[in-house]
Amino acid sequence: MLPLLLLLPLAHAAPRPALDNISFPDPSLTFDPHTRAWYAFATEANTHHVQAATSPTVHGPWSFLPSVDLLPSPGAWVNSTSPRVWAPDVQYLSETNSFVLYYSALSAHSRFHCVGAATSPNITGPFTPLSKPLICPIAEGGAIDAAGYVDEADGSRWIVYKVDGSALGPGGPCGNGEPPGEPTPLRLQRVDVGDGVTLVGEAVTILDRDPEVDGPLVEAPSLVRLRDGDAVRALGGGFVLFYSSHCFNSAEYDVKYAVAEGIDGPYERRGQLLGREAGSFGLERPGGATGVPGGGGLVLHAECEAGRCMYEADYVVEDGEIRIT
Ligand SMILES: *[C@@H]1O[C@H](CO)[C@@H](O)[C@H](O)[C@H]1NC(C)=O
Ligand SMILES: *[C@@H]1O[C@H](CO)[C@@H](O)[C@H](O)[C@H]1NC(C)=O
Ligand SMILES: *[C@@H]1O[C@H](CO)[C@@H](O)[C@H](O)[C@H]1NC(C)=O
Repeated sequence: MLPLLLLLPLAHAAPRPALDNISFPDPSLTFDPHTRAWYAFATEANTHHVQAATSPTVHGPWSFLPSVDLLPSPGAWVNSTSPRVWAPDVQYLSETNSFVLYYSALSAHSRFHCVGAATSPNITGPFTPLSKPLICPIAEGGAIDAAGYVDEADGSRWIVYKVDGSALGPGGPCGNGEPPGEPTPLRLQRVDVGDGVTLVGEAVTILDRDPEVDGPLVEAPSLVRLRDGDAVRALGGGFVLFYSSHCFNSAEYDVKYAVAEGIDGPYERRGQLLGREAGSFGLERPGGATGVPGGGGLVLHAECEAGRCMYEADYVVEDGEIRIT
């Protein structure tokens, strides 16, 4: 028994590759109640607009699905010669036993990205896009990086996303590195619990870039709620917002987090979780993280020979902070 007991924690220690020979940027996670398998989805690459991988557990082992593209047709509102589909996220809709896909794509009517939505009875698609984008604040630079969230406590449904002020920026790193630069607020939008695409009320800003610590941007928000308990009270709140700062192609790219007691904030910045200051366990340019629903783990991407590979990491909540283990 002793060797097994020693091996079990080791098997989940430190960030580890989930897919080590495929570029799979900005990974998200979804549980499929039909097959009881987990799915991960990623930014366009390997000839697909939305890539997919599957695993019997949330901790792997992951298999890339080479013949699956969730979104063969990105939608009438998308630039068809250059759709640039980024940061997909899929949510299960129990009322209709179907799925909604949130994604970002280049609008055909501007030079900016907008957040779109598409639906399918099947988690692997093909998804049918809505005829119009879901969230499209063109005057602020558009929107990207949408991630869904369902609050198990009250059944409410939400989307967090980045207003892409970077795309309006004055130049420098990522186009927004010269002062003063544009805001890149992370916003929270409530949506209808049944269809996932009817907006409910106005979006609220829950975090924005602080140029001193974030450089040109914050992006890639992902929201989880940790189960209440002493450790979570010491942390300062059960809502955890993971996000990245700096340019994705710079050595400063990272995973940061902020915490709040209520879903709409105020979110208190708690600094880096993975990156040059907090330690990156040998990962280069880690970012684009998605939290495992309910807490405890993350998937993220980091540099690899194939491009940006998917990694898994575990964390603990201890002494008022979150730490990668
Ligand atoms: C990646 O590795 C898997 C498992 O070893 C293998 O089946 C697959 O063919 C590899 N893919 C590429 C693109 O090399
Ligand atoms: C689509 O994107 C390409 C490349 O960015 C651009 O040259 C073209 O003008 C865009 N087309 C439309 C209809 O916006
Ligand atoms: C869902 O898609 C997968 C992969 O294409 C296919 O094998 C499966 O039969 C589909 N299931 C349903 C319910 O359509």
